[in-house]
Amino acid sequence: MPAAGHGSRMAADLPKQYLKLDQRTVAEHSVARLLDSVPLQALVVVVAADDPLWPQLPVASRAGVVTAFGGPTRAESVLNGLAALPGAGDHDWVLVHDMARPCVRAADIRRLIEECGSDGAILAAPVADTLKQSDGSRILATLDRSTVWRALTPQLFPVGALRAALQTALQAGAEITDEASAMERAGWQPRLVAGAADNIKITWPADLPLARFFLAQQQQ
Ligand code: C5P
Repeated sequence: MPAAGHGSRMAADLPKQYLKLDQRTVAEHSVARLLDSVPLQALVVVVAADDPLWPQLPVASRAGVVTAFGGPTRAESVLNGLAALPGAGDHDWVLVHDMARPCVRAADIRRLIEECGSDGAILAAPVADTLKQSDGSRILATLDRSTVWRALTPQLFPVGALRAALQTALQAGAEITDEASAMERAGWQPRLVAGAADNIKITWPADLPLARFFLAQQQQ
């Protein structure tokens, strides 16, 4: 679970994973969702080296939870996480899940694993709005939204293939905003598995009440 970003768009006093949704923080919800979904060999949480809050959460000392330190980019943080996976071989599989997605459903994680092909798979959601391609000010084209999906997490790949794809992308200076994009650059064709749209990534201040609403709704 990468959790070493600055969360600057949230403009909060605390990094977004330590904001409270109910009695529990975003981080505690996200970790619990993963641990309660499928049996995992280990769960590596990648935090900033100067993050004083993560070690204070009881969940950080749960059995099987390992802490690693992040890098300047998401790709480097995920690579550090892969390096910290205890006893993982290249042919083992890894789920990469944004710490900032506390509403992921266990059923979606299980379906992702069931429907995963040999090139890996990601959870994804259809797009509701009409999408415009732009040069920043003018519209250049309208995209066919039936072919466009929102990439969610978890994303599921073989450890060795993901490591190699991330290393190659980093060396090329490519901007990697999810793991699948590194795999695509390396010639893999991961599957899309439709997931619930309430698996939002907490990014903006308005996402916090939305996540609270989704969590409450899921419990009904
Ligand atoms: O920036 P973005 O919202 O795409 O970040 C997604 C996830 O990646 C977050 O959980 C964030 O903490 C993590 N991240 C990281 N290391 C970075 C940048 C982002 O672990 N250098």
